[in-house]
Amino acid sequence: MDAASPWWRSAVIYQVYVRSYQDSNGDGVGDLTGVTQRLDYLSALGVDAVWLTPFYPSPNADFGYDVSDYCGVAPEYGTLADWDELVREAKARGIRLLVDLVLNHTSDQHPWFTEARSLRQSPKRDWYVWKDGRPGGEPPTNWASVFGGPAWTRDDATGQWYYHAFLPQQPDLNWHHPAVRQAMHDVARFWLQRGASGFRLDATAFLFEDPGYPQDPEIATNAEVRPINPLKPYNAGRPENHTVLRELRQVLDAHGPDTVLLGESATDTLDELVAAYGERDDEIQLPMNFLFARHWQRDAIGLKRLVDEAQAALRGKTPVSFFSNHDHWRQWSAFGDGVHNDQIAKLTAALVLAQRGTALVYYGEEIGMGDLPVAELAAAPLGPHRPRADHRDRARTPMQWSSAPQAGFSTGTPWLPRPRHIGHHHVEAQRADPDSLYHWYRALLALRKREPALREGEHVPLHSGHADVLAFGRRSEDGAGAVVVLNFSSEPQRVALGGWPGAPLVFSQTLLASPAAVEPEAPTFEIAPFGIWMGQVAH
Ligand code: NOJ
Ligand code: CA
Repeated sequence: MDAASPWWRSAVIYQVYVRSYQDSNGDGVGDLTGVTQRLDYLSALGVDAVWLTPFYPSPNADFGYDVSDYCGVAPEYGTLADWDELVREAKARGIRLLVDLVLNHTSDQHPWFTEARSLRQSPKRDWYVWKDGRPGGEPPTNWASVFGGPAWTRDDATGQWYYHAFLPQQPDLNWHHPAVRQAMHDVARFWLQRGASGFRLDATAFLFEDPGYPQDPEIATNAEVRPINPLKPYNAGRPENHTVLRELRQVLDAHGPDTVLLGESATDTLDELVAAYGERDDEIQLPMNFLFARHWQRDAIGLKRLVDEAQAALRGKTPVSFFSNHDHWRQWSAFGDGVHNDQIAKLTAALVLAQRGTALVYYGEEIGMGDLPVAELAAAPLGPHRPRADHRDRARTPMQWSSAPQAGFSTGTPWLPRPRHIGHHHVEAQRADPDSLYHWYRALLALRKREPALREGEHVPLHSGHADVLAFGRRSEDGAGAVVVLNFSSEPQRVALGGWPGAPLVFSQTLLASPAAVEPEAPTFEIAPFGIWMGQVAH
């Protein structure tokens, strides 16, 4: 790595859904020690950092995104000593850890909220967002929460309503309050001092509300209309968000230059995404690009537009590309055509991992894990370890380490079953097959580290001569270059590459191809159905 370039600029960050990665004590719930046990796997895969989903004490109304103690570890996930051990072992392998920081809301069981709701005069009252209702017992506004249902809940004891962008069990904090900011800075310092390299920030768009609390005309005219897009001008993307994120960044910078903020920075436009980095690049270094991540269609034209536009707008900044996470469909399922899913998964992996910037890999993506079928989810019992039904659980099944009934995840009964049919989509089978998706990910990750053009080269939009073939180049200052050609169709296509600046395009070698391809001599060649060709440009 270039000494001047921080580690996160071209990193691969692997998202571990802690509950589902590895259970170390047979209770059916993944835990921190389980993650430690799998660090050798992550190291062999070649990831730079791991983002761990919340492992704080939590009543689990939203699996840890309802935090009741920001400086602790839930007993089901282990202890602070287990965290320390994970930090030591990860560091020994050069892997960094990012903690999920939930800023917008706490659990309704957090002592701050218990105190706030106890009395209108409570010193903590203003840590949350309270308002009087409208006449007739109506909530202060007609807003809907992101998860559906009203965004306000009436507290019977004090007769006021509290605001929650998400579940009623997730009351929003009042970020206008300096003590709230201070408390959250202390939380950040706590984890940084305990070995975290930074944070994945939850729901950064939602920190403030319009102080005028307007009614939503879309909802007011028709009670049945739910917001199609929960990002509303009154509940998301408020300008005050920037002050909070800037201050938090200062807390990180004061700790050390190697720290980073990875933001769940959902935006509706590219301009808003650019703004999430901060006017002076002094806020979130890595806001996730949801405009790209939500385009779940095998649509080379649409994807190319999203890639080229984001890369142009984010020049000098670090784009963050991904398709899957614990709230989305898994990309193997979302992009697959039911026949060529493994090959298509190689294609989407190359699209994410060959792009300039930082890439996120969701656990199991690298072995072709698919979503749990709806019927199997419906049959999965609720109980102490799975307190509520959530359709997002389809993408949260246990990591598939083997073909065993519990997928090698647990010796007990997993909190959520693995899909009944997993075929060769488990680590043992994937490791044994040199042509597997797993080995494709390993090769891509290794190539990113090895090839200067793929590591730091600028993005060069290319035209491919065919609407279903997406092509782009990467070019570094020293003239090194690479091209990436992705056939999104089930037919072989004739490619005629154009748009490389300067000298005519000549290749010196194939860097990676699937299926294995003959070296093209000229920028005109045939590419296989769903084929991928990556080549080095001669200079
Ligand atoms: C985004 C998280 O990714 C999601 O899982 C959670 O439900 C909401 N934020 C609320 O915290
Ligand atoms: Ca466990």
